[in-house]
Amino acid sequence: MMHEGERLQKVLARVGLGSRRVCEDLIADGRVTVDGVVAVLGRRIDVDTTLVEVDGAVVGIKPDLVHYLLNKPAGVISTAEDTHDRPTVVELMPEEPRVFPVGRLDADTEGLLIITHDGELTHRLTHPSFGIEKEYLTQVEGEPSRAALRELREGVELDDGPSAKARVTAVDPSLLRITIHEGRNRQVRRMCEAIGHPVIRLVRTRIGPIVDRRLKPGEWRVLNRDEVRSLEVAVGSGNSGGALERDR
Ligand code: URA
Repeated sequence: MMHEGERLQKVLARVGLGSRRVCEDLIADGRVTVDGVVAVLGRRIDVDTTLVEVDGAVVGIKPDLVHYLLNKPAGVISTAEDTHDRPTVVELMPEEPRVFPVGRLDADTEGLLIITHDGELTHRLTHPSFGIEKEYLTQVEGEPSRAALRELREGVELDDGPSAKARVTAVDPSLLRITIHEGRNRQVRRMCEAIGHPVIRLVRTRIGPIVDRRLKPGEWRVLNRDEVRSLEVAVGSGNSGGALERDR
């Protein structure tokens, strides 16, 4: 067992953390943990089963993991399969390897969705304790008053408990930029309904550090290594970089 696997410094260098020498220094300086334990030089790891962190941020080390960014069009379902035979986001993606959406957008919601088979990252991006920020451009009925916007920011009563603090700015009187760090079912729609301004159109424009203003509805691209790393940092450190103030 002791001699199996790939040397840690080689793995770190392969995924772009620096030269082999730089990665040896990271290990020697005690900045690298393997499954939660500070690693020593010479350590070998199984890249398929080991959790490696540098300065507390998870490092994606598995070879051949793919991470796609899709601009989901309205009318497409973001589960892997649909019982009513409606089109799904997975059908828009390459068939191999088999990938899954990270969390869900409602059928009518448009915008950015990460699709991958990276289970660890999916878990962290969707788990509420990591509080990754999601930003939505939200067109609503009517023109919410300043008091209504304040309510949205402070948290509104929903049937599964109050919403957490949100960042809300009015781009236009009926167009709101809403940033939340929870991922409850139909959350933005329910929040807007709660203040009496139902959503007409909802577009997700940011997931943590990931934005893309050029990707057209229905188009997808591969997330580059820096983007994947920025996501790992966002969830590895327990917030999404500039996380919202917590109210609980
Ligand atoms: N909030 C919603 O109401 N719907 C989504 O699809 C995402 C966030």
